[in-house]
Amino acid sequence: MLIRRHRPWELPESAATPEAVYLSRRHLLGAGAGLLAAAGVGLPATAAPTPGNPDLDPTKDLYPAKRNEAFTLDRPVTPAEISGNYNNFYEFGSDRRNYQVADIAERMPRRPWTVKIDGLVETPREVGIDDIIRAMSLEERLYRHRCVEAWSMAVPWTGFPVRAFVDYAKPLSGAKYIRMETFVNPAVAPAQNRFIYPWPYVEGITMAEGMNDLAFFVTGVYGKPAPNQYGAPLRLALPWKYGFKSVKSIVRISFVAERPVGLWEQVQGREYGFWANVNPEVPHPRWSQASERDIGTGERRPTLLYNGYGEQVAGLYAGMDKTEKLFM
Ligand code: MTE
Repeated sequence: MLIRRHRPWELPESAATPEAVYLSRRHLLGAGAGLLAAAGVGLPATAAPTPGNPDLDPTKDLYPAKRNEAFTLDRPVTPAEISGNYNNFYEFGSDRRNYQVADIAERMPRRPWTVKIDGLVETPREVGIDDIIRAMSLEERLYRHRCVEAWSMAVPWTGFPVRAFVDYAKPLSGAKYIRMETFVNPAVAPAQNRFIYPWPYVEGITMAEGMNDLAFFVTGVYGKPAPNQYGAPLRLALPWKYGFKSVKSIVRISFVAERPVGLWEQVQGREYGFWANVNPEVPHPRWSQASERDIGTGERRPTLLYNGYGEQVAGLYAGMDKTEKLFM
């Protein structure tokens, strides 16, 4: 979903860093990211130069978590080597097919990492990610994932229900939406300089969507702490919506009264809306959504309404189709 239509504040592609320069720069960054972070450039400001290796994750002892058998699949789990090397994470670049996103993301320090919980909550606070994870009960769920670009995968996520986090955050009654934000730190995520998008990556859901059983915060995958390219240490998984709603590497969760505007909605609202529920019958303005390519098996499959999760989520949208664009 790289959007090449430029607004006045966007750089033309020709002005972007040439790929070769960018690549040699990333090796420099690998060595220098810790120093830059320590010098106070973006997040995590006080980070020591810790590698992104998930084997060093301080919550590693919590894996593998028990699988919740209520969440099953109609297709094979996508092998880790495939899903872990085909990632949309634009902060780290757009060349996922040449393994670059995974490779560059691995250089991001995993700790220290804090999450700011603010907005309409009893007590706004900033909490260490390990404190959050250890306050939750981790479980594994098998979920389908459908990208708006018409590819799909099936993954064993580990994490905890958004609903459990809502209980932990204690929102006030005026909270109508949950707004989530990714880090901004071009020192470790070089494409935040290269693509002139309105960073940070932001996404939002309604409180009702967050309280749905399927809404899940992910901390791990394939029975281990998630490698960075999946959105470590905390990402969202909303399997009935197009994948861009599932914001990665979250540093801020705000409970708000106004509907949040996501990054893609800001950049191209005609193509990427707030609801973004999967529907084979509503094409993207530039391509059909009738079928999808399973990146694991290579098969083409018919797209399912709500990505096959209609029974669990259709009720959330009852009567809203006259006033809202639920599928874009
Ligand atoms: N979150 C951030 N911060 N940046 C991104 O570029 N891409 C989104 C979503 N979350 C994205 C993000 C898109 S388009 C998809 S399809 C999924 O992450 C991809 O998740 P995956 O790499 O685990 O497949």
